[in-house]
Amino acid sequence: MKRLDGKIAFVTGASRGIGKGIALRLAEDGALVAVHYGSSREAADEVVQTITERGGQAFAIGAKLESMPEIMQLIESLQAELVRLTGESRFDILVNNAGIGTSQTLEETTEENFDHIFAVNVKAPFFLVQQSLQLLRNEGRIINISSGVTRIAYPHIMAYNLTKGALNTFTLHLAQMLGPRGITVNAVLPGIVDTDVNASWLHTPEGHKHAAEMSAFGRVGETSDIADVVSFLASPDSRWVTAQLLDATGGSHL
Ligand SMILES: NC(=O)c1ccc[n+]([C@@H]2O[C@H](COP(=O)([O-])OP(=O)(O)OC[C@H]3O[C@@H](n4cnc5c(N)ncnc54)[C@H](OP(=O)(O)O)[C@@H]3O)[C@@H](O)[C@H]2O)c1
Repeated sequence: MKRLDGKIAFVTGASRGIGKGIALRLAEDGALVAVHYGSSREAADEVVQTITERGGQAFAIGAKLESMPEIMQLIESLQAELVRLTGESRFDILVNNAGIGTSQTLEETTEENFDHIFAVNVKAPFFLVQQSLQLLRNEGRIINISSGVTRIAYPHIMAYNLTKGALNTFTLHLAQMLGPRGITVNAVLPGIVDTDVNASWLHTPEGHKHAAEMSAFGRVGETSDIADVVSFLASPDSRWVTAQLLDATGGSHL
């Protein structure tokens, strides 16, 4: 018996990076996983194939997460697939992972940059939760992938930092609101993780050394480091933990 047997997880941005790691881990824990992608359909199909080859269950669903019609379309696709596979449209675990970074400083940020990053990193999780309220089962889980930048100052990526602060605040208030249903709401705050977002600078000897030195453990984070924390928060073992901002930066800048 695996700890997520019979559970259904919906992971946004699961085609690559941290989201892919989370999807693989939750499937390994026994969940049926909805692998969301924005534009990397082939990559999402590969994640589904890997899960299936390992004896798990998953399906891919795609939608850009930048506007309300796209969010509604994603929820409709999710419901349709769930009905097809399970006979009902309910699920247990929502992981709001899809997100984008920025390289603009405060001075460089345009209104367009600002609106775009807030659309993907804040508006999409907000309305995905709103549209999932009736679909999420009692005793369910919402896990928001925030960032260590809400604790550690990085003023050169100002707009991104604000989006993650908003996600932390959302976590607190949602936890209070959904407590009576036994639904826990927590955020995980990764530090630097080796994904596409960081590849341009992290895959240089100096960049890698700099990133490793930030962590108390002297190494760069891997997607599995974050997925394992999410696995705990998704599991029944975390039932008494809610509204927490779980630092998963590998002890960065202690
Ligand atoms: N990597 C880090 O160091 C780090 C640190 C702290 C926090 N985080 C957070 O962790 C989360 C995942 O980051 P990552 O590094 O794994 O990123 P990543 O490798 O760039 O993957 C991002 C994922 O989000 C999806 N996505 C991006 N823009 C989208 C859009 N407009 N519409 C729909 N889906 C979209 C992508 O889907 P497609 O490719 O299919 O479009 C992809 O699956 C983000 O919320 C990020 O802020 C990352």
